[in-house]
Amino acid sequence: MSEKEIKSLEDIFDAKIANDEKIEPRDWMPEKYRQTHIRQISQHAHSEIVGMLPEGNWITRAPSLRRKVALLAKVQDEAGHGLYLYSACETLGISREELYDQLHTGKAKYSSIFNYPTLTWADMGAIGWLVDGAAIINQVPLCNTSFGPYARAMVRVCKEESFHQRQGYEIMLTLCNGTQEQKDMAQDALNRWWWPSLMMFGPTDDKSTHTAQSMKWKLKRKTNDELRQQFVDQTVPQADLLGLTVPDKDLKYNNDTGHYEFGEINWDEFWQVVKGYGKCNKERINARKNAWNNGEWVRNAAMAYAEKEAERKAKQAV
Ligand code: 3HC
Repeated sequence: MSEKEIKSLEDIFDAKIANDEKIEPRDWMPEKYRQTHIRQISQHAHSEIVGMLPEGNWITRAPSLRRKVALLAKVQDEAGHGLYLYSACETLGISREELYDQLHTGKAKYSSIFNYPTLTWADMGAIGWLVDGAAIINQVPLCNTSFGPYARAMVRVCKEESFHQRQGYEIMLTLCNGTQEQKDMAQDALNRWWWPSLMMFGPTDDKSTHTAQSMKWKLKRKTNDELRQQFVDQTVPQADLLGLTVPDKDLKYNNDTGHYEFGEINWDEFWQVVKGYGKCNKERINARKNAWNNGEWVRNAAMAYAEKEAERKAKQAV
């Protein structure tokens, strides 16, 4: 392709971004746009799939049938989110096998939050309330992201995350209206999940490698710090309503800005977890690798069935 032809494709692409039109898989796109989308969408997909593990841990120990059914449905939803996102990612020309390989070999990241252990039933409440709550704040702007398949996948994901958040908050509310021991469990869960939830939004804007370019491409609509602030502003009053204390001695409302100011995040802890040294990193990756290896016969059977079906249909067509 001549330089002039590439320039005209770039101009069409830039005009679409400027006009808030969606970029679709068959449209021309800069290679860096494609690569950064593969990176973000696949990491997002991996987060959904790995995110099933901490909560899956409590399905057999849910305190009632009602709680068990809701938790099962939630964990199943996360699997569905992973599948929409892997499918969206595949439209960029990468295979599902390559994506899994990147996860299993540690080449691709997944959200830091899922490397923390779930120690009590209250953690199911805290995860739904805080982790899914953070996920919604991060993901609602992505419904309006520039790449069509990602934006469309996010619409359904956000609707389901909103149910998850309420499910979690309701568990917290029940515990907080229960015995002192139950309320202590809820407080303990908040203490352990608060800071990791703030870390979920990623490094501060001045340390974020990709934000500036992703904002230009309208992949990201808000920066990591803007979303983190929105989360704090939204969540602190919810903690107040529960009668729980946010574990941050520096937290205070600023009347002038209309925002909560919060304490310093432990970024060393964040990077340790991202680099693989969190409490559960090894366990999570081993669980995913085992699921992949143990599922080989299912994949083979499905492929064999698909081939037979294709043969049968081809014969019928003649
Ligand atoms: N955990 C692990 N890695 C993280 C991270 C986190 N919480 N936050 C940032 N990082 C990584 C980035 O991936 C990047 O690494 P890379 O260059 O190797 O890919 C590096 O740290 C620098 O961060 P940036 O801010 O420059 O990266 P991004 O611009 O990609 O922003 C993000 C990070 C805000 C997480 C963005 O990718 C995003 O919005 N992703 C989509 C949403 C998502 O993936 N959410 C994960 C949670 S999903 C979930 O919670 C499911 C649910 O069911 C609850």
